[in-house]
Amino acid sequence: MSGTQRLDWVSRPAVNLHGDVVVPGDKSVSHRSMMLSAIAEGTSHIQGFLEGEDTRATAAVLAQLGVSIEAPSAGERIVHGVGLHGLRASSKPLDCGNAGTGMRLLAGLLAGQSFDSTLTGDESLSKRPMRRVTDPLAKMGAQIDSQDGLPPLHVRGGRSLHGIGYELPVASAQVKSALLLAGLYAKGITEVIEPHPTRDYTERMLAAFGWPVEFSPGHAKLEGGHRLRATDVVVPADFSSAAFFLVAASIVPGSCLRLPSVGLNPRRTGLLEALRLMGADIRIENQGESGGEAVGDLVVQHAPLHGIELPEALVPDMIDEFPALFVAAALANGRTVVRGAAELRVKESDRLATMAAGLRALGVRIEETPDGAIIDGGAIQGGTVDSHGDHRIAMSFAVAGLVARGAVTIRDCANVATSFPGFVELANGCGFVLN
Ligand code: S3P
Repeated sequence: MSGTQRLDWVSRPAVNLHGDVVVPGDKSVSHRSMMLSAIAEGTSHIQGFLEGEDTRATAAVLAQLGVSIEAPSAGERIVHGVGLHGLRASSKPLDCGNAGTGMRLLAGLLAGQSFDSTLTGDESLSKRPMRRVTDPLAKMGAQIDSQDGLPPLHVRGGRSLHGIGYELPVASAQVKSALLLAGLYAKGITEVIEPHPTRDYTERMLAAFGWPVEFSPGHAKLEGGHRLRATDVVVPADFSSAAFFLVAASIVPGSCLRLPSVGLNPRRTGLLEALRLMGADIRIENQGESGGEAVGDLVVQHAPLHGIELPEALVPDMIDEFPALFVAAALANGRTVVRGAAELRVKESDRLATMAAGLRALGVRIEETPDGAIIDGGAIQGGTVDSHGDHRIAMSFAVAGLVARGAVTIRDCANVATSFPGFVELANGCGFVLN
């Protein structure tokens, strides 16, 4: 939430968790479905669109750029695409809210337009590094002015872009996607090579919209000068939102939860593997495909967890799930060591610092390292923690409160609405005691 409203939660110990939990649509897929539908030719129908503040901000930006978008029901959007060159200038800044994905992908998309744009964001987004997109986009011929690498971004229009080959210094699906979106408007070939494969939604969705794109894990390549044709998109449930319930049911004795039709793209499910290494009991049932993405029901039961040395190769596949993992580690038997996760310092908050401070306030032994943490599992005490306006931290501490030895008060939780509207109701529906 980019306003001034503050919201605190209190999470209390639960007896056990039971039932079906239907989590909302995937944030990454929702952003991309809106952007590609907007610049496609024809009308696209999106189902399962995440009604979160982040993805609604992206839809509002595209509406400001002249795209007509209908919302016949919750989670449904009908987008009347304007074609690759049909967006129109906005005289006002384009507010991306809290969304790094929104701002970075839009920077790539807007770099190829004939008009100037200004991208702004809330207090948290205004502190997030943008050179990772503006530098390679400049190599393609774009001109984007920032405030010493921070938003707002002033994107100059009327530049002629050319494709580049770019090796990403850090694994980032946002940077890859920004370059691919700029590449739609560029002369020649845009090719991106990643140090570790990241989520490939942009590549898959471009192909679904009819743009020829070559991709394999860690590599993506396309050429400018084609067209996007409207298509229908079904957004799967967000694995990152399911993650809180996977940890919650694992740590609360006597629990069993079913999470239906969750997106299981392998570039997203690192936490599943990490929790299984820790001893978790998670099954996948009804595995299938929806809208070109792997989906399945996740069935999780309580199991005693033990600490692990997290394999570094899993880090990019669970980049948004560390706050939840840290809570699991705090309850596990023995030590958990995380390395190679310095990217966590530039998320919606510095997640290593915020989680370390919060867990320490709850009596957990945690040592923060430059690129990770060492957590000695044991008991969690009651206390007060500050989420620093970070949605995933707030929800992770709500999970910690389920097994704490007293109430856990969590400060500054309003931003949960950016990715998980209705979290409190859904959580209380399966046994959380959260208000
Ligand atoms: C995202 C990519 C990841 C992730 C973010 C969503 C995306 O960011 O943390 O929540 O939709 O492309 P990075 O690209 O910075 O790793």
